[in-house]
Amino acid sequence: MRKKLIAGNWKMNNTPSQGVALINEIKDTANNAVCDVVVCTPYICLPAACEAAKGSKIAVSAENMHFEDKGAFTGEISADMLKEVGVTYTVIGHSERRQYFAETDTTVNLKTVKALANDILPIVCVGESLDQRENGITFDFISMQVKLALKGVSAEDAKKVVIAYEPIWAIGTGMTATDEQANEVCLFIRETVKSLYGADVSDTMRILYGGSMNAKNAAGLLAQSDIDGGLIGGASLKAADFCTIINAANA
Ligand code: PGA
Repeated sequence: MRKKLIAGNWKMNNTPSQGVALINEIKDTANNAVCDVVVCTPYICLPAACEAAKGSKIAVSAENMHFEDKGAFTGEISADMLKEVGVTYTVIGHSERRQYFAETDTTVNLKTVKALANDILPIVCVGESLDQRENGITFDFISMQVKLALKGVSAEDAKKVVIAYEPIWAIGTGMTATDEQANEVCLFIRETVKSLYGADVSDTMRILYGGSMNAKNAAGLLAQSDIDGGLIGGASLKAADFCTIINAANA
C-alpha cells in the first residue's frame, strides 16, 4: 500500500512569519495524520518553516532547485543549501516554472537527478494544456514528460520520485479534472513508469493529482485507485481547508 502524500504548494504566497503561523495551525492535524504532509514554501520561508515544523510530522519542500552544485548562477539555490536548513523535498518542473521561467524537460531531468543524488525527494510535475487535451495528445505528451524527467534515474531512485499530474487547465482555475479524468492519467503515468522500470517501481511510486483540489472535491479524488495524494495550491493557504484535505487522505 502506498502512503498518501498531501503537499501544499504555497507558490509566491506567505512571508516567513505568515508561513510559520500557517504551519502552527496545521501541525496538530498533520501529527495525527496517517498520510505524509508536506509544505512547499518560497525559498525565503524555508529556514523558518523548517524550524517551525521541527518535531512535527510536517516535511518542508522547496518549490524549485538548481541542478548545479554551486557557481555563478545569480538568484539560484542549490541542493546543499536546501539540505542544510532541513528541506527534504523539492517541487520540480511546475507548469508555472515551465511557462514563465523557461523550465524545460532537460532542466527538469537534471534537477530530478541532482535532487535524488542529494537525498532530496523530487515532486516532478507534468500536465497537458487545454489545447493538447482538446487535440487528443494528452497521453503522448504526458508520456514524453515522464520519460524525459526520469532519464538516467535508477530503479531504486525512481521509487523515491513523486510525480504530480497537474493538468494546466485545472491549475488555479477552479476547473478541477473529474475524478475519472484525473485517475485515468495517473494510471497512465503508472503504466508508463511500469514500462520503464517494471511493476516493483510503478507500484511503489506515488502519483499525485493537482489542479484546483479543494476541501470539497478532495475526498472523491483521493479515493481513486491511482491517485496517491494531492499537490494543492490555493486551498493549502487556508489552514482549515488544508486540514480537511489532510483528513480526506486519511480515510
Ligand atoms: P491550485 O494549484 O490548487 O491553486 O490549482 C495547484 C498547483 O499548481 O500545484
